[in-house]
Amino acid sequence: MSNVDPETFRQFEHQGWQEIASRYHGGFAAVTTQSVPALLEAGRVTEATRILDVACGPGYVAAAAAARGAVAIGIDFSSEMVEEARGRYPGIDFREGDAEELAFPDSSFDAVLMNFGMLHLARPEQALQGAYRVLRPAGRMAFTVWDTPDHAVGFGIVLGAIQKYGDLSVPIPPGPPFFRFSDPEESKRVLIAAGFVNVAVIRVPQVWRLPSPETLFEVMYNGSVRNAALLRAQKPDVLETIRAEIRVRVEKAGNELSMPAVLASGQKL
Ligand SMILES: C[S@@+](CC[C@H](N)C(=O)[O-])C[C@H]1O[C@@H](n2cnc3c(N)ncnc32)[C@H](O)[C@@H]1O
Repeated sequence: MSNVDPETFRQFEHQGWQEIASRYHGGFAAVTTQSVPALLEAGRVTEATRILDVACGPGYVAAAAAARGAVAIGIDFSSEMVEEARGRYPGIDFREGDAEELAFPDSSFDAVLMNFGMLHLARPEQALQGAYRVLRPAGRMAFTVWDTPDHAVGFGIVLGAIQKYGDLSVPIPPGPPFFRFSDPEESKRVLIAAGFVNVAVIRVPQVWRLPSPETLFEVMYNGSVRNAALLRAQKPDVLETIRAEIRVRVEKAGNELSMPAVLASGQKL
């Protein structure tokens, strides 16, 4: 990972999320929201739990926690995402904030939750250290990421098509490996390194019901950051070949794609 410049990658992600914030709800959210109940369970969220939803996007985790009677705050580094969240859930406290620099006092939350945020961070270890700091003793941290492309079939199809016809060496700012925390051992390792105990990793089944065989390409192209950049950097004729290949692979796989999440959790001592 020595070729990763964290600040360049962070800016690349930030610009990407600013641009796609309004499209996220109509795309990946159909899948990422399926992990929310499991994440709340891992965080032991009940009435009056003080929770921080980190990289909150449109605010689904905070909203689901609030519906259980928890006191929820959501933060996201994209002002456009924060606007999305405020518009969707006006009663909840959403703020602009960086997962890598949590601007909260020590011991201010019972649970810190991050749904599909870790894989977008330039400095994920720093985010876990911050989560540990803002948790009260015995408080809980839980995060989800995508499972590997052999299990999360939508990624398998898209990356397989790019590998077959495209150029993977196009110049996009290098970041930490997208599937790094899909490896349960790696997720456990970073949680333990941040000081967490009672660390556990489970797989959460999720299904992406695609309204049409074109949807997978369209959501990756219009509603993601790194994979969209990879697609956009392809030559036009190559891109059309990739799009057609993705369509064929989706038709073969069927319109319900398995897209499991890996959910990792731990507790502050
Ligand atoms: C895949 S979306 C997940 C949104 C939401 N948590 C969900 O459940 O669907 C990733 C989110 O992480 C945010 N994000 C990425 N890097 C961040 C950072 N360093 N600090 C705060 N938010 C960040 C993005 O703006 C985006 O809203």
